[in-house]
Amino acid sequence: MENMPRKAAILGTGSWASAFGRHLCHKWERVVLWGIDDKQVRSINQTGTNPDYLGSTVLPPNLRATLDLGDALRNADILFVVVPSQVVRAVMAQVVASGSLPPDIPIVNLAKGFEVASLKRLSEVIEEELAALNPPSAHPVAVLLGPSHAEEVALELPTAVVLSGTANGDWSHWQAWISGPFFRVYTNPDIAGVEFASAFKNIIALAVGMADGLGAGDNTRGTLMTRGMVELSRLGKALGGRPETFAGLAGIGDMITTCISHHSRNRNFGEAVTAGHGSPEELLTECVQVVEGVEMAKAALKLGEKHNVELPITKQVHDVLFSGKPPRQAMRELMERELRPETDA
Ligand SMILES: NC(=O)c1ccc[n+]([C@@H]2O[C@H](COP(=O)([O-])OP(=O)(O)OC[C@H]3O[C@@H](n4cnc5c(N)ncnc54)[C@H](O)[C@@H]3O)[C@@H](O)[C@H]2O)c1
Repeated sequence: MENMPRKAAILGTGSWASAFGRHLCHKWERVVLWGIDDKQVRSINQTGTNPDYLGSTVLPPNLRATLDLGDALRNADILFVVVPSQVVRAVMAQVVASGSLPPDIPIVNLAKGFEVASLKRLSEVIEEELAALNPPSAHPVAVLLGPSHAEEVALELPTAVVLSGTANGDWSHWQAWISGPFFRVYTNPDIAGVEFASAFKNIIALAVGMADGLGAGDNTRGTLMTRGMVELSRLGKALGGRPETFAGLAGIGDMITTCISHHSRNRNFGEAVTAGHGSPEELLTECVQVVEGVEMAKAALKLGEKHNVELPITKQVHDVLFSGKPPRQAMRELMERELRPETDA
């Protein structure tokens, strides 16, 4: 392919960084993962596996990991950000401070969440950190999001995602360079909608998991996903997203996948909470991998208050996680809310 870039740098050595990097290696000459965990980095380089995060999946020889940020960034043609949402700002600050970011390369975020402290989208957080670059540099920023469980991408099961970037990037080239035979990339100019939908669906996956832990059936799951989409659309529109995006891969697509999948950490975490396997705090400390919906429940509730948007499911998930509300009471309160028409007037 003409002008095919050669080196991709990825921030993170967790499940998604490893599975996505493995996918890129089919097409790209070199993929370098940057991490802070010596055990993960050594395992990737010495055994070609990342067992705590991706089981026995074998990583290709043109993928390596490093603890040295400068090593990862040197001569990179693109930078992918694949760390938990709440550390994106700190990690990007490190990237800027390293002085090793090649000028003008695109930066693509793959984390799903909002920064709770600022209530900002992660592409906004990244742009804010890039503003500190001296000399200034014009890095186009994008997100690559959608229904993409790492475990399935590692098995090369057909997957489709959305690349949504700021106006200063030529994303159609990157769409082709990131796509592969089992990984199909669409573009969508609605970055606000794509980011919000991808972050919000994790709260509904927590709700579905909580309902499953209480022994709920398919009627309940279908209802939570559908009414969850109503909350997603209401708040998403208030934040500038488009209804077509919510009907797309980052919206209903990721909502279905996350809520029904046994790979979904958010769904599984919700189920563990209501099945009595421990308090939310205890269960969180046991999690090796990030459960993004927990922090997003806080952010979404604050955003709902700010924009005067009612979010009944989100509120109940929040109260079970942070106020000790018994899950059965939360379910009862949802069912006993004032009766109303299904659609907004
Ligand atoms: N796992 C998936 O299937 C999947 C798919 C799509 C998107 N995502 C999103 O990607 C993001 C990462 O998810 P994941 O599943 O890879 O998480 P993970 O928990 O498997 O890995 C997180 C990685 O971030 C690193 N990390 C944590 N704190 C850090 C810090 N302060 N500085 C540098 N590195 C740090 C960890 O060492 C680890 O390598 C999340 O926002 C998630 O929602 C995950």
